[in-house]
Amino acid sequence: GIPTAEMEHRVREIKKKYGDELLIPGHHYQRDEVIQFADVTGDSLELARLAAENTKARHIVFCGVHFMAETCDILTQEHQHVILPDQRAGCSMADMANMAQTDAAWRLLTEMVGDTILPLTYVNSTAEIKAFVGRHGGATVTSSNARQVIAWALKQRKRILFLPDQHLGRNTAYELGIPLDEMAVWDPYAQRLLTDRDPEEIRIILWKGHCSVHEKFTTGQIEEMKRQDPEIRVIVHPECTHDVVIAADDAGSTKYIIDRIKEAPAGSKWAVGTEMNLVRRLAANHPDQHIVSLNPDLCPCLTMNRIDLPYLLWSLECIDRGEPTGIIKVPAHITEDARAALERMFQHI
Ligand code: 13P
Ligand code: SF4
Repeated sequence: GIPTAEMEHRVREIKKKYGDELLIPGHHYQRDEVIQFADVTGDSLELARLAAENTKARHIVFCGVHFMAETCDILTQEHQHVILPDQRAGCSMADMANMAQTDAAWRLLTEMVGDTILPLTYVNSTAEIKAFVGRHGGATVTSSNARQVIAWALKQRKRILFLPDQHLGRNTAYELGIPLDEMAVWDPYAQRLLTDRDPEEIRIILWKGHCSVHEKFTTGQIEEMKRQDPEIRVIVHPECTHDVVIAADDAGSTKYIIDRIKEAPAGSKWAVGTEMNLVRRLAANHPDQHIVSLNPDLCPCLTMNRIDLPYLLWSLECIDRGEPTGIIKVPAHITEDARAALERMFQHI
């Protein structure tokens, strides 16, 4: 293969040649070898906002996962195209809710409780699911605004259907004061609500999806960390299970975690429950603090990690040859409804 230094040089050359015409957004979970070339880095909310604001860049090479590139396409204009450097960079959580399952769930749930439900979806979902939610008057949420959006939704309807991450839904609703026994999981395979209670008493219907990275953090790891060092503070992402969020000292979105560590004094000690690339970068950027992953086995997001320097360079070379490859284009009829769901989120935060 081509030596790394040569690849980096070529990326720099193409970036320079294209200037404002080319934009490389990078999610915080991306590898260092990719993040070093990102024009902007952010969590999913920041990157969505940025997409909505940028009208200059003709080529947007999105370093993140498929649903983020779709969101970017939905929020940008006709003259802009969004490229995902490796088409296999999906998200296992987004894949846990498909349209056939969602249509079936909606039909069965509305048979049970009528039109008392508003659907919400975490942005970590396919454009089709966002469009479904948009068509039914609901909104998207990200981990940094789930609280505001769920609070808004519960003023509109008696209950919500929260797709596809049961943990973000449960953790956020709990934070808003909703007791766990007013929440129930919808199993899309069994096509039923996993509860013995009357569905009328359930206010939060949680889709049975999860993030395979964040679900690997456990309360056992927290106990072990605290045993080794009682002063260490444990901070986790709300995609972790409820028992982990409760046992941790603090929990919040990717941006929240970054901000807490940024403002912490020298000598602070942290065990962080989120994606490994970010935890490593936080440790490197704050050498005066002691920052480790909560999971000693480490837990990369395999699909985020598919985007690497060779793929980034290849995407840029394709653009430079006039043959952009890996374009993510959401069909027009889906774009319209999905945009409605995203805009409703922006309105209520
Ligand atoms: P945020 O960027 O909203 O914190 O989401 C985390 C995540 O899992 C992205 O895939
Ligand atoms: Fe999906 Fe989890 Fe990876 Fe985020 S970290 S892209 S939610 S699998």
